[in-house]
Amino acid sequence: MQEVFNVYSSYYDLIYKDKDYNREADYVIELITKYHKNAIDIIEFGSGTGKHAELFSLKGFNVVGVEPSAEMIKIATPKTNTSLSFVQSSIESYNNTKDFDVALALFHVISYLTTNEDLEKAFTNVCKRLKKDGLFIFDVWYSPAVLTQLPEKRTKTIENDLIKVIRNAEPTIHWNTNIIDVAYKIEVLNKLEQKISHLYETHKMRHFSIPELLLLAKVYGFELVTTHEFLTKKIPGADTWGICMVLQKK
Ligand SMILES: C[S@@+](CC[C@H](N)C(=O)[O-])C[C@H]1O[C@@H](n2cnc3c(N)ncnc32)[C@H](O)[C@@H]1O
Repeated sequence: MQEVFNVYSSYYDLIYKDKDYNREADYVIELITKYHKNAIDIIEFGSGTGKHAELFSLKGFNVVGVEPSAEMIKIATPKTNTSLSFVQSSIESYNNTKDFDVALALFHVISYLTTNEDLEKAFTNVCKRLKKDGLFIFDVWYSPAVLTQLPEKRTKTIENDLIKVIRNAEPTIHWNTNIIDVAYKIEVLNKLEQKISHLYETHKMRHFSIPELLLLAKVYGFELVTTHEFLTKKIPGADTWGICMVLQKK
């Protein structure tokens, strides 16, 4: 398991301030309600700063957020309430006697599992943590889009009253392992002190095809409920960077 998201986590919510967590949470709840009506207990792997998890708990679900980054957990912890808690662990190793109705891994968490060994551990563990008929819902980078569009160098600039963050992302494609190394160089300007600091972090991301995920699902005790483009529910194609998979434990 790679532990990225250390220095990066302090700027995570600022970098993704335009991400529509409310819309995404409503979309996930719609899937849960459609395919597992009486679900109440959710485990969210890679819960990050806890934004989705908090929304699920406010909508009446009991939620445990599992996140390997201590820094992310620190940011999420103030959101804790009677139906929401956070644990520092990973999707491969989280261990508890409680069983859940739904397991989630949102915003490319499964794409951070770059080796077959990590994927095997993760699918085995998710299956163990779910009750029979429980759902496993996740989104990943989709190979046809990644290999047609090809990842590009990108720069994102974002600021608030205190800081300005410039994030440069430079991808390296590894053709034979389905992995993209995204090297982030982050420049942070402290506006009050007029000081600039630099952070560097490389995120290894794996992209997946549907048959590859279906094979994993079958081997580890799941069947496919549905797959489509994340959020829009369109049929995946060469322009679909992120697909959502809804699996059910047999
Ligand atoms: C792009 S962030 C998404 C965070 C959050 N789900 C969101 O939507 O804002 C990916 C998250 O996956 C976590 N992660 C990476 N490897 C993981 C693993 N093996 N098990 C669980 N989470 C992992 C990272 O620490 C990070 O918080």
